[in-house]
Amino acid sequence: MRLKDKVCIVTGGGSGIGRATCRVLAREGAKVVVADRKPEAAAAVARELPGALALSVDVSKSAEVKRMIDDTVKAFGRLDVIVNNAGYGTFGTVVDIDEQEWDDLMAVNVRGVYLCCKHAIPAMKRTGGGAIVNVASVVASIGIRNRAAYVASKGAVAALTRAIALDHVAEGIRCNAIAPGTIDTPYYDDVMARAPDPVAFRKGLEARQPIGRLGTAEEMADCILFLASDESRFALGAIVTIDGGMTAQ
Ligand SMILES: NC(=O)c1ccc[n+]([C@@H]2O[C@H](COP(=O)([O-])OP(=O)(O)OC[C@H]3O[C@@H](n4cnc5c(N)ncnc54)[C@H](O)[C@@H]3O)[C@@H](O)[C@H]2O)c1
Repeated sequence: MRLKDKVCIVTGGGSGIGRATCRVLAREGAKVVVADRKPEAAAAVARELPGALALSVDVSKSAEVKRMIDDTVKAFGRLDVIVNNAGYGTFGTVVDIDEQEWDDLMAVNVRGVYLCCKHAIPAMKRTGGGAIVNVASVVASIGIRNRAAYVASKGAVAALTRAIALDHVAEGIRCNAIAPGTIDTPYYDDVMARAPDPVAFRKGLEARQPIGRLGTAEEMADCILFLASDESRFALGAIVTIDGGMTAQ
């Protein structure tokens, strides 16, 4: 029960890494707020977890993010942890990606983290502090081809994690991030379904993992639990790489 009675918001909690995180945090005694752009996905996860609350939010919209924080505090009286997980990827070089696609992705992956922290931090301060866990990616520290906007967005999330960590440590708030490698989630199911040869595509992804397989959402959730709990009390501005050795080579 490492998060007993802690109130935790997980954005993008309706699928993949976010859904696994909701389950792990609830198992550890947290009161979980499952926040997602897809209300039915959030509701399905919340139904599994005792005392959980489902909220519909688009993290790129300030008024919706503010309402998510207000509704959480109204329901549970406080906010202890926010996991900024909502995000998505897109393909293309800077030449291919059109401007709207770039702006839309940045609005979710970067502005979303900014807005969630902007509205969560004052609420956390009112009850003595809390923990922020951002979901970056290994692409924050290594380049990969044909994913220019996504790579730039996750680099920004890592940089923002360090900036927030320094700005708010005196208020009892710790901000850290995980940097996942390639993780088997519904997002990748979608990507694979669109590949000309999905089996070969998956084999290629597995081959670039020294550990020989993709990561699981549960493995990411366990790392997020560590950063959300007091076990990581000396971690500040850390970007924890968890990638099956992808960046070790
Ligand atoms: N899967 C991977 O290999 C991988 C690797 C590194 C980082 N990540 C990051 O992990 C996070 C979760 O990815 P996943 O693979 O679990 O994806 P996923 O598609 O399975 O889940 C993402 C969830 O976020 C929600 N979401 C998307 N935009 C939103 C918005 N604007 N507001 C609120 N909710 C929104 C979606 O509805 C979905 O439920 C993302 O930030 C992703 O970039 C994933």
